[in-house]
Amino acid sequence: MKISFGQRNVEPDVRMLYDMKEVVYDKEWLKDAENIPLYYMFRDLWKAGDRQRIEKLGLRYDITIIPGRMLGQEYVKTKGHYHPVAGTVDYPEIYEVLEGEAHYLLQKRKAERTILVKAKQGNKVIIPPGYGHITINPQNCNLKMANWVCRNFESEYEPIVEKGGGAWFELEDGFKKNPNYGSVPDLEICAADGNNPFDRNLYDLINEPNKLDFLVSPDENKKIFEYLEFF
Ligand SMILES: [Fe+2]
Repeated sequence: MKISFGQRNVEPDVRMLYDMKEVVYDKEWLKDAENIPLYYMFRDLWKAGDRQRIEKLGLRYDITIIPGRMLGQEYVKTKGHYHPVAGTVDYPEIYEVLEGEAHYLLQKRKAERTILVKAKQGNKVIIPPGYGHITINPQNCNLKMANWVCRNFESEYEPIVEKGGGAWFELEDGFKKNPNYGSVPDLEICAADGNNPFDRNLYDLINEPNKLDFLVSPDENKKIFEYLEFF
């Protein structure tokens, strides 16, 4: 799969099923499953004239495409990760759904709070500091989404791999708790509509870079997270 962005053809990094065996719910299905590509990550995109500015700001713009499919009983999803700390809080991230529908599963480090944010085309969702996140595609068509994130950190995949996935699995017959987290409060489910202060196309925020400062310096921009009742 290729996309064209900024009038260039871009090749993706591909997440294969066997890269995330540990986090798949349906192990019976997995036994006979081939190592299929699950999703496509087009990283570090830019339009003509923007590249140096984006790098100087310490930002990265990515697009991810997750074709709709089932992993046995479970809806296809990303592997999931946490972000490292930036000062006193972890780095946040912001997503926009470009096509399809996304379910963003957010969970605190010990899953003491878990939230599912349902987002449709055009919705933007901030991953607040301190929340690991997994993106689920709950439909049988492509989910295409974009994100801005700080370019200077490595995501932490191990905690979710060690637990065999997130605190919840989204299955064809509903949400199922992952027993490896022990006792976890109920999943809070909300819609993304009206859930953030950004009203323009996500890429174009590069023309108002102060609105993206919170991604690189969350400590100095905590105010932006205040509207998120769950921060
Ligand atoms: Fe992330």
